[in-house]
Formats: sequence, structure tokens, C-alpha cells
Amino acid sequence: MPNAGQPIPVIVDCDTGVDDALALLFAVRHPGLDLRAVTCVAGNTDVDGVVRNTLTVLEQAGAPDIPVARGAALPLIEPARSARHVHGDDGMGDIGLPAPTRAPADVDAVTLLRREILASPRPVTLIPTAPLTNIALLLRTHPEVTRNIERIVFMGGAVACGNATPVAEFNVWHDPEAAAILLTAGVPITMYGLDVFQRVVVPGADVRRLRASADPGARLAGDLLSHRPATPDVGADSEAGGIGDAGAVCTVVDPAGITTRLLPVEVSLAPGPTRGQTIVDRRPRFGESELHTGTRDLRLVDVALDVDVERFVKLYLTTVEKVAN
Ligand code: BDR
Ligand code: CA
Repeated sequence: MPNAGQPIPVIVDCDTGVDDALALLFAVRHPGLDLRAVTCVAGNTDVDGVVRNTLTVLEQAGAPDIPVARGAALPLIEPARSARHVHGDDGMGDIGLPAPTRAPADVDAVTLLRREILASPRPVTLIPTAPLTNIALLLRTHPEVTRNIERIVFMGGAVACGNATPVAEFNVWHDPEAAAILLTAGVPITMYGLDVFQRVVVPGADVRRLRASADPGARLAGDLLSHRPATPDVGADSEAGGIGDAGAVCTVVDPAGITTRLLPVEVSLAPGPTRGQTIVDRRPRFGESELHTGTRDLRLVDVALDVDVERFVKLYLTTVEKVAN
């Protein structure tokens, strides 16, 4: 485990979002993480809904003091396109969560990100689990923040198959230009893409136990998991649920839980069927394109290619169930 003894300072940028909520519950409860702020962006639902959901989740998790800021309401170029069919009308699976009792910070997300990153005594790990609009705006507005960013672990992209389109993953597809800016941040980047994201599934028996917990945070995790049908299909275990975005946070705590390779990655910005695709170059050697027209300067990204599913499920459950109030 990195930084044994001292928690890792992290900021989650999210579009809460059922699985973003699972990620927040984990980040709040893991003793190896110091969650310094949460910033919100339009994605799964509109940005005001994301702020509301995020505040509610932090309250339910017993962490009402973490600053939360409202960020971009729209992608850089594209219109906003929600994922209501996955996350429900309220973005939280319509499970009847109460409204939050507190308000967000009186600064916008980019300002809060800059402030918290530069104020941190140790370099911060950014964990975007949403379209990358806030992060792109931050990098363009305050490029000096990179001096105090340890690395960025983002949920987004796919090596193989997409979900928003046959080849594009939702977070990158929602704002492809922002994702392209992220890749040029000049700090180490880990891509926790769909290939691993979809595989970490909590068995139904564990989901039932969480739902019966006396602890509101664990109970909320159970209710949210039961709203997340497992992909790939796990047959008869209909209550099993994927941890989704929470896997990116697990990666920060336990990097050995994923297998990565440092590979060139670029985002397709072309209009048409490839827009938003993350093109990951896994070729063992250059091809005719490079031989005839030369190489291009592509950033290397640590791409997650495999995940130890059991290890992350165990890590998730032991963390979220640890705090019994
Ligand atoms: C991503 O899209 C959202 O629906 C999830 O919260 C996750 O961040 C998966 O494509
Ligand atoms: Ca998300």
C-alpha cells in the first residue's frame, strides 16, 4: 500500500450518479484516503442534481464537512446528454433519498480544485469519475496546479468495447475534447476504463447484507448496488451489483489490484462513429502509418487491462462496512 501510515490526499470529480455515490462512500470510509474535496460536473444528470446527490451521499456517509463545489453545466462543445436510463430521473436510481441539509461551497469547482490542490501539504491524486469538463477547465485556467498533482486516476475510456457507442465510453463520449486535454496534463495518468470497470461485481448475498445494515452508509451502498445490474450478466444472482466508478478509487488505495501497461492513448475527436473513442495502441511495433508518415507525439497512459475482481470486492466491502455507527 502506498504512503503507508499517511493517508493519500485525494479529490473526486464526479457526476453522482449511482456508482459515483458508491465511489464516494468508499473514499470517505477508507482510512488510507484523505478526501479533501468533491467537485461536480454534468454527466449522469444535470449539474444541480449532481450537487444535490453528492451532498446527500456525504451526509448519509457521515462526512458532512467535505467541501462540495458545482462545476460545469455543459461539456466544452457537445450538448449535455444525461444517462437517466441507467441512473434514474434523479441520477440516484430514484431510491427516495432525502434532500441534503447543507449548501455547496460558495466557489465554483475549478476554484475549489485549484485551492485544495495548491493548499495540500502533499501532492494530490485526482480521481475523475465523470465527463472531464471540470478537469480540462482547471488545466487550461490554472496550469500551475500540476506541480502539486501526484497523478490522475480517471474512470473513462475503453480499450475494447464502448457503452455510449459501440466504441466510446460515456465519460469520454460526453466531452471528448475535455478528455483529450486531460491526456496532455503532463502528470502520470491511469485509465480505469470499461474493460475493468464492468467486471467488479458484488454478489447478491453481500448486497442483501448491506441493505439490512443498521449503518445508513452501508445500507445506502446496498441500495445503490441493488440498482446496478451486473455487467457482464451473472446469471441467477439478480441482486448482484457492480461497484463501477468505485473501482477507480480502489485502484488508488490498492494499485496492485489492477494490471496496467504504459501505452499511447488518444481520443477520437472526429465527427462520426468513432467520436469519443479512446484509441489505445497495443501494437508490439510501429506499422506502415509510422513508416510512411512518421510518428506522432502521443501521451503514454497507464491503462488498466485486468483487475483482481475478488480483491476489489473484498476491499470495497470491508471498507464500506467498517464504520458501524
Ligand atoms: C461511466 O458513466 C457513468 O454512467 C458512470 O457513472 C461511469 O462513470 C461509465 O461509462
Ligand atoms: Ca460517473
